[in-house]
Amino acid sequence: MTEQVTRATFDEVMFPNYAPSAIIPVRGEGSRVWDQEGKEYIDFAGGIAVTALGHSHPTLVNVMREQAGQLWHLANIMTNEPALRLAKKLTEKTFADRVFFCNSGAEANEAAFKLARRYAFDHFGPEKNEIISFYQSFHGRTLFTVSVGGQPKYKEGFEPTPKGITHCHFNDIEELKSLISDKTCAVVMEPIQGEGGIIPADKTFAKQVRELCDQHKALLVYDEVQSGVGRSGTFFAYEQLGVTPDILTSAKALGNGFPVAAMIAKDHVAQSFVFGTHGSTYGGNPMACAIAEAVIDIITTPEVLEGVKKRHDLFVEGLNAINEKYHVFKDIRGMGLLMGAEVVEQFAGNAKAFLTAAAEEGLFVLVAGPNVIRFAPSLIIPEEDIKEGLARLERAVAKVLEANK
Ligand SMILES: Cc1ncc(COP(=O)(O)O)c(C=O)c1O
Repeated sequence: MTEQVTRATFDEVMFPNYAPSAIIPVRGEGSRVWDQEGKEYIDFAGGIAVTALGHSHPTLVNVMREQAGQLWHLANIMTNEPALRLAKKLTEKTFADRVFFCNSGAEANEAAFKLARRYAFDHFGPEKNEIISFYQSFHGRTLFTVSVGGQPKYKEGFEPTPKGITHCHFNDIEELKSLISDKTCAVVMEPIQGEGGIIPADKTFAKQVRELCDQHKALLVYDEVQSGVGRSGTFFAYEQLGVTPDILTSAKALGNGFPVAAMIAKDHVAQSFVFGTHGSTYGGNPMACAIAEAVIDIITTPEVLEGVKKRHDLFVEGLNAINEKYHVFKDIRGMGLLMGAEVVEQFAGNAKAFLTAAAEEGLFVLVAGPNVIRFAPSLIIPEEDIKEGLARLERAVAKVLEANK
């Protein structure tokens, strides 16, 4: 018999590093989710930008079932067909020639930062080891990734952290010019900062970063863990910036919720990961790769990618309409279906109040930092769910305003 568990069980048996809401979802279909009490929610969160094809997508369920009956795991002592097919697709659809598989965004970034250092070591010597990244960036929770990430709170108390990392203000090319040198092995950036508050890179800035990297023989690493796999409206966001990175990391939507991640790179860079330099037990396992292959097949269709742009416009229109009535947002921004609404001064530091009120109204949204309500729904969310979700959001906004009168 299955034991009855509730939210209180969390406080008894789980580490206190998360503070989950009172809701325990038990079932999802498309962009709708139901909790233990049978209450229905519309999902504008997608996990955190993960379930890009919604919940229980029938094709993905079938692929998973089929693969589960065939082969789960081998370890990297042997390769497998789903991994090879997925790697071929990733290289055909991007700038990259080679792929390394792992299981999470942090792990992909850890691999990318190690590769950048190793490449510089191989080609220029041990002195060229400095990494530049940006304030407010987020790259994961391993010790290396919290150190490269630009939010000090994530490394506090975990020092000593890896050395040779400098931070620069995002979209500030003059500052980057003053920091970059021939000792720089990599510049790391998110094309649109996610956790940092949904801040897109300026196109000119992105191009100038590429030029500076070329001048100093530094690699350009794009963290597309959140922005990738269709979320921006193109397969990866770099395509819209007109800039090609040397290394790119992907996770989140790649498996639609099944843990899988990838680091992809040009061949000459990938060659620095010679046999024995890096690895992962689960990385590239057939289950994860079969699912990711199906995800890519669906997401890279023109129908889905064009649908992202259409849905983006619906969101912006709906958010503007709410704002005209209630004047709660000072900025509405983003790319594709990664959008943020920055709250006005009155609610600065308290974007979370809208998330809580939205959940009460039957809607999942996210925050990105203290001031931004974030939306990262399924890329194929039905139009009627967008409309209904926005109606619930409007009720939530009215409620927060009423409570703060
Ligand atoms: C841009 C970016 N990089 C890396 C990560 C870390 O990914 P994971 O939680 O899968 O390790 C995240 C997660 O939010 C992210 O948004």
